Amino acid sequence: PSTAKDDTITRIVPKLTEGAGVVTTRGDVHYVVTEFGIAYLHGKSIRQRVLSLIDIAHPKFRKELIQAAKAQGYLLPDQIELEWDKVRYPEELEKYETLRDGTEIFFRPVKPTDEAALSEMLYSLSTESVRKRYFTHTKTFPHKDVQRLTNVDYEQNLAIVGVVPGAAGGEEIVAIAQYFLDPKTLVAEVAFIVQDEWQDKGMGSFLLDYITSIAKSRGVRRFYATVLPLNKAMLQIFYNSGYAVQTEFDGQAYTITYDLEKKA
Ligand SMILES: CC(C)(COP(=O)(O)OP(=O)(O)OC[C@H]1O[C@@H](n2cnc3c(N)ncnc32)[C@H](O)[C@@H]1OP(=O)(O)O)[C@@H](O)C(=O)NCCC(=O)NCCS
Repeated sequence: PSTAKDDTITRIVPKLTEGAGVVTTRGDVHYVVTEFGIAYLHGKSIRQRVLSLIDIAHPKFRKELIQAAKAQGYLLPDQIELEWDKVRYPEELEKYETLRDGTEIFFRPVKPTDEAALSEMLYSLSTESVRKRYFTHTKTFPHKDVQRLTNVDYEQNLAIVGVVPGAAGGEEIVAIAQYFLDPKTLVAEVAFIVQDEWQDKGMGSFLLDYITSIAKSRGVRRFYATVLPLNKAMLQIFYNSGYAVQTEFDGQAYTITYDLEKKA
């Protein structure tokens, strides 16, 4: 368990007690498991290991652990501190799916510990894919921005990532679908990225379907997306979605809108 003494103390701590013996070194520990999940630590940087361990601590201690890790210089000062006692990782949205070519992909909500893997995926995108998603050829993905994608409240801000086994037993992120909800209007902006080597295997279509059904079950009314005219795959996915999509063109990009209750 991640806690002791009736949840009053955390076993995941920022510092060992003075004089405590260490019998297993960092090179030997690959996994740490608690009731909140599995931290895979092998071959990770100290920042990744710290984040992974905090991620499996009891939610009520996560904020203080992040603050302690910042104070010790293990995490950057601008590391986002979520309201962990209010934010719940929606485990029920985890799902395996087999692509047309037979590859199995694990789809799950994004986690704060995904920052390094997501950053790697974003930097591996072709300039064409970057342009289609961000409307600019050159883009950097600093810690400040990427952690905003990985530290989400799963309510107004939801992201689902597609994951495959990566190097040295880790995970590689190959796709992400996100929505950003305006709670006043219940209208959400939706966006997708499939890493270039994984495109055209049906993942984009699956993700649109999946994130639409999640949003619908959570009361989201409408989705919209901004798509460049050259982005034939994305347009195709919307037109094939089975929803009654509306399209507006402003001379530069299409705004695609659809009502989640309205099938075509
Ligand atoms: C757009 C994107 C998400 C699509 O994901 P994907 O996994 O490649 O899409 P799918 O494999 O589900 O293919 C969807 C459809 O597009 C078609 N398609 C794929 N690539 C195409 C291309 N270059 N030109 C025309 N059609 C294409 C597919 O044939 C398929 O149509 P079908 O179902 O009628 O056969 C992905 O290409 C991507 O990440 N692009 C860069 C970022 C981006 O454009 N994001 C969208 C901004 S909202």
